[in-house]
Amino acid sequence: MICLTLSGPTIEDNLLDLEANKDFVDICELRLDLLNPEEQAKASTFPSLVNIPVILTLRRVSDGGKCNLQEKARRSLLMETLKGGGFSYVDIEDDVKKSDVEECAHSLGVKVIRSFHDFEGIPADIFSKVHSLSSRGDVAKIAVTPHSIADIMTLFRVNEELKDTPKIIIGMGQWGVCTRILYKKMGSILTFGSNGVAVAPGMVSARDLKLLYRADRINDNTGIYGIVGNPVMHSLSPQIHNPGFHRINYNAVYVPFLSDSIRSFLTLAEMLRLRGFSVTVPFKVDVVRFLGNITREVKQIGSCNTVVRVPNMWKGTNTDFYGFLNPIEKEIEDGRITSALVLGAGGAAKAIVWALKMRSVKVTILNRTVSKAEDMAKLYGVAYDSMDNIKNYEGKVDLVVQATSLGLYPNEDVNPAEDFEFSGKEVAYDIVYAPKYTKFLRAAEKAGCTLKFGIDMLMEQGKLQFESFTGYHYPKNLDPLS
Ligand code: ATR
Repeated sequence: MICLTLSGPTIEDNLLDLEANKDFVDICELRLDLLNPEEQAKASTFPSLVNIPVILTLRRVSDGGKCNLQEKARRSLLMETLKGGGFSYVDIEDDVKKSDVEECAHSLGVKVIRSFHDFEGIPADIFSKVHSLSSRGDVAKIAVTPHSIADIMTLFRVNEELKDTPKIIIGMGQWGVCTRILYKKMGSILTFGSNGVAVAPGMVSARDLKLLYRADRINDNTGIYGIVGNPVMHSLSPQIHNPGFHRINYNAVYVPFLSDSIRSFLTLAEMLRLRGFSVTVPFKVDVVRFLGNITREVKQIGSCNTVVRVPNMWKGTNTDFYGFLNPIEKEIEDGRITSALVLGAGGAAKAIVWALKMRSVKVTILNRTVSKAEDMAKLYGVAYDSMDNIKNYEGKVDLVVQATSLGLYPNEDVNPAEDFEFSGKEVAYDIVYAPKYTKFLRAAEKAGCTLKFGIDMLMEQGKLQFESFTGYHYPKNLDPLS
């Protein structure tokens, strides 16, 4: 079940919220503590106004809520509201010893969710905690805060240990996003989704849970794929792969995994039986040493962005170089591009220089730190120079590639080629995709250059990755990033 957390200040607001999300959710949680005091009195009628099950929650400040009533008054308010009838569940915190709310709930046929929150970390005794919570209520709920892949593995292990216990296990914060999407793999009976504004840290919208990840459709046969990186939540790859799976009726989900180490991520990947994953900053180079099989591109470039499971090992490929080349392939074939300036000498520039070299384009690498440009130039047998000398190349190259990390949100007002005057004949290519029109591309457009966008490179590398993952072509006429 996908549960919409209703966090509006009035009943009316919550009804509107539910109406807007009704196609995405199976159940909702009314947060009594977030209602205005005068609205709280009306909450007992809420279940009669909606046609899905309702969880009633009155969260204390110490558990991340807004209720600051004395404990006795808080329990009275909960019971009074329950007596309005029609609630399906009530949430009672772990440490509430008095059993009056519980008795009231059971006399009304309302199930009890016994909950425990930890906004700092994960309790060492999490297994026994789940066990004891479930013995005191109908459903055990644990919302804790993971800080590493090892923590995520602990959360997934809860289900291995306590398979038949009705439970809700949630990892809060950015680390926990995968636990919210893969809630069925955690053995959770439901996952909480927001209306777009996260009520708890790391909350995914109900809409994305339902339409993008199809979290409620995940079953034992669903193939799990993902992207590993740090940071990773900004990645657009879930928006490329999930709609692709959906369109070809491929039972799979693609999930972002924030990670602190590629080694521990691989252990999680084995545990969840991942079939493949994308790799992004800062793991593209580090991952290579763990792969049992790599392609020629990975060997030459030294970095890998695509990993698939093959019998007994992980196989690494690099689709970045192809994604980069595809949008300019025609110009290279036509002879319009024979020379190029590559700005930057980092990880991204590496695949680009190698790709251009493969297509016999004459490359000069310009970088702020000249020694890095020199190292890369020697590796691939191309020319190099300092970024300070960029003006010497005006009117002398067919292609200018912006491959530094500048211009990327939130530094969109920076252009590493600030002094460079385009003649207008160049093809200008920026690998940064957010924003689409970087400062670099805007300057090139003004001069009349042909523009190539990072978003197209991203889409092309994603399509090839999709083929590695599924064995099928990316569906035609599907352009989720446009
Ligand atoms: P990526 O994997 O995205 O390429 P990276 O390996 O950290 O990231 O490389 C970042 C690139 O952006 C480098 O070429 C870097 O130049 P230096 O080698 O001199 O650090 C370039 N870059 C980052 N900040 C820059 C700045 N303020 N001015 C010029 N170049 C910059």
